[in-house]
Amino acid sequence: EKGGYDHFMLKEIYEQPSVIKDTYRGRLLVNDGIIKMSGVDDNLEKFLNAKRILIVACGTSWHAGLVAEYIIEEFSRIPVEVEYASEFRYRNPIINKDDVVIAISQSGETADTLAAIKLAKENGAFVFGVCNVVGSSISRETHAGAYTHAGPEIGVASTKAFTTQITILTLIALRLAKAKGTMSNSDYQRYLLELELIPEKVQEALLTNDVTKQIAEIYKDATNCLYLGRGYNFPVALEGALKLKEISYIHAEGYPAAEMKHGPIALIDEHMPVIVIAPNKGHYDKVVSNIQEIKSRSGKIIAVVTKGDTQVKELADHVIEIPEATEALTPLLTTIPLQLLSYHIAVLRGCNVDQPRNLAKSVTVE
Ligand code: F6R
Repeated sequence: EKGGYDHFMLKEIYEQPSVIKDTYRGRLLVNDGIIKMSGVDDNLEKFLNAKRILIVACGTSWHAGLVAEYIIEEFSRIPVEVEYASEFRYRNPIINKDDVVIAISQSGETADTLAAIKLAKENGAFVFGVCNVVGSSISRETHAGAYTHAGPEIGVASTKAFTTQITILTLIALRLAKAKGTMSNSDYQRYLLELELIPEKVQEALLTNDVTKQIAEIYKDATNCLYLGRGYNFPVALEGALKLKEISYIHAEGYPAAEMKHGPIALIDEHMPVIVIAPNKGHYDKVVSNIQEIKSRSGKIIAVVTKGDTQVKELADHVIEIPEATEALTPLLTTIPLQLLSYHIAVLRGCNVDQPRNLAKSVTVE
């Protein structure tokens, strides 16, 4: 049932090219130049009239929400706020009738997310679900939604759910951008084409398995790790750190790269591996400066870079190459080696990768 893989987690990491495709199949219609999502299309007025979009979720799904914040705001210029469902539900939040709430949940059973949805509904908001489990409580409790087609996720640490959530949320962002006219038609068409190429690129990103395994051998005994990224890849840094914590029990923190000098830089010494997400887009030059700051304090750099990179390669102790992609879509690629790195470190440490201690697949109690 593990399809020849040692663990469900590894199998699920490798399923990502096909489940991303399953998730956009029938929705991303490149030849017609359109995105078809009945849950959005049928409620388009609600989305277009929304003064803001509120995203509620927990854990990895919350990280997907953060990626979506960057993408939705950039593409469709609708203000987005992302909240931990557990905080949202208990802090007497301001919810308006013209708010659209997007709840993201793999299991569709997370108690805090479910409670946040009920609260939003009581206050008259329109609630849209992004769930993986068909017929789950959250999918039933929401007014409309779109399923991720990740298939069953058995490994407790979420992998393919995350990338399929980002896929759905990117489709929504593009659909809204088209309807609002906030993106030029040529950019819109270019994104459709680029999105269709993502599964192949994820397949290529999976070729980092060997290099991540070698890096894992070197750093498996680390006690702390720092993950840094900027822009679209800041949430990927958070997710990379969460994955390492969960399955290898190594303390890890994700940070926006520029925040390093506001505190975490004090931690840097020769024992501190720093994983830096540095694709050749957006804030590349600034990330290069961050890497220099870490090197000058003897930190060890493991950098995720775009294939063909030279600048970071000169500075970093190790580089992991991923294929070229338009910046907004890079999280779907940069995530892959970070999942593999956590996996290999956890296996080398003898951890129970599929069922880490103290964790449950569905958190149905608050
Ligand atoms: C991380 C992980 C958890 C879940 C969180 C939300 O690998 O598994 O952080 O992401 O419990 O779960 P769902 O998405 O089912 O609501």
